[in-house]
Amino acid sequence: MSGFQSIRWEETTGGGSLVLLDQRRLPFETLYLSFETPESVAQAIRDMVVRGAPAIGVTAAYGLCLPSLRWSEPGLRQRLDAAFAVLAASRPTAVNLFWALERMRGVLYAAESAGSDNLSVRQRLLDAAHALFEEDRNVNIALSDYGVDLLPDKANLLHHCNTGSLATVEYGTALGIIRRAHERGKQIHAYLSETRPRLQGASLSAYEMATLRIPYTVLVDGAAAYLMQKGNVDAVVVGCDRVAANGDTANKIGTYMHALCAKAHGIPFYVAMPTSTLDISLSSGADIPVEERPSEEVTEIRGVRIAPEGTKVWNPAFDITPGGLVTGFITERGVLHPPFTVESIQK
Ligand code: MRU
Repeated sequence: MSGFQSIRWEETTGGGSLVLLDQRRLPFETLYLSFETPESVAQAIRDMVVRGAPAIGVTAAYGLCLPSLRWSEPGLRQRLDAAFAVLAASRPTAVNLFWALERMRGVLYAAESAGSDNLSVRQRLLDAAHALFEEDRNVNIALSDYGVDLLPDKANLLHHCNTGSLATVEYGTALGIIRRAHERGKQIHAYLSETRPRLQGASLSAYEMATLRIPYTVLVDGAAAYLMQKGNVDAVVVGCDRVAANGDTANKIGTYMHALCAKAHGIPFYVAMPTSTLDISLSSGADIPVEERPSEEVTEIRGVRIAPEGTKVWNPAFDITPGGLVTGFITERGVLHPPFTVESIQK
C-alpha cells in the first residue's frame, strides 16, 4: 500500500457513507470528506475532490448506493433514477463513469425483476460497487505487470498528469507500471510533467512518488520536448480517459504534445488502458466529448490571480492523441493495438 486511499466506503449504524480523500488539498493536507447523497458525490467529482477516470467510475458507483440507505421502497426507484442522472452529468470525458453507472443499472434491473425489497436492492448495489472496487485493483496490477516487461532494466520515463493510487482505487495504471518496475528492482526514474492548469503532476504524482521513494523529477509541461531532444527519455507512459475504437485517446491536456514529441524523437509512447476506458461505440476521437473547465483554473493559481481581469481563456481539460502515435495500449489483457473490437473488452 502507498499509505493513502482515495475512496473508502464506511458502514455506519445509520447505513453507510462514502469517504473521499480531498485531492485538492494535497500534498499539504490529508483531509477525508464524508458524502451521504448522490448530489454531493456528483459535486465532489465536478470539483475534483476525487479525479482520475477509474476513481470517478468507482466513486459514482458508491454514490448510487446512497439513496437506498435513506429512502423507502415507494420512492426509491425515482430517487435512483435521479441519482443516475446527476452522477452522469458530473464530468463528460472519462468513460469509466458511464461504464460504472451502466454496470450498476444492470444490477438494479436484475434486483427489480427478482422482486427484491429495499434492503436487498441496497445490498446488491453495494456488493456491485465493492466488486467494481476490487476489479479496478486487480486490473491495475495486471496491466502494470504487462507494462513492466516493456521497459528496459534502467529507464527514464516521462509521465503526464496523475494516474496512481489517487486516480484509481489503489495501485494506479501508468504510475502503477512505474511503481511495479521499481518494486521489481528496475532502476526507474520518473520525469513528471507538472500538468497545467491543475498541477496533478507536480502535486499528486510527485506526492505519490515521494511516498513510494521512487526517484522523480518535476518539469514544466513546456520542457518535455527539450528533455526528449536531449536524449533523456526512454519511454513516455500515460493514462487515458476514453479511447475510441481506432485508438484515438482522450487524456489530460498536454498528452498530445508529448505524443508528437515522442514520435519526433523516436521514443515509445505507451498508454496504460484498463479496458473499462475503451469506448468502442465511438469510431474515432472526434466523437469524444471534451470537458472545458472554468477560466479561473488558468487565470489563477491557488486563488492568486496571474492574468489581467477580463482575460479570455480556453481551458479544455483533455486532448485527443491520434491512435497512430501510440506505440501500444497496455491493458489487463496484455498489450493491445487498434482497431479495438468487442473481443478487446471481453474477459
Ligand atoms: O482531470 P483529471 O485529473 O481527472 O484527469 C486525469 C487524467 O487525465 C488521467 O490521466 C486519466 O484519468 C487516467 S487515471 C488512471
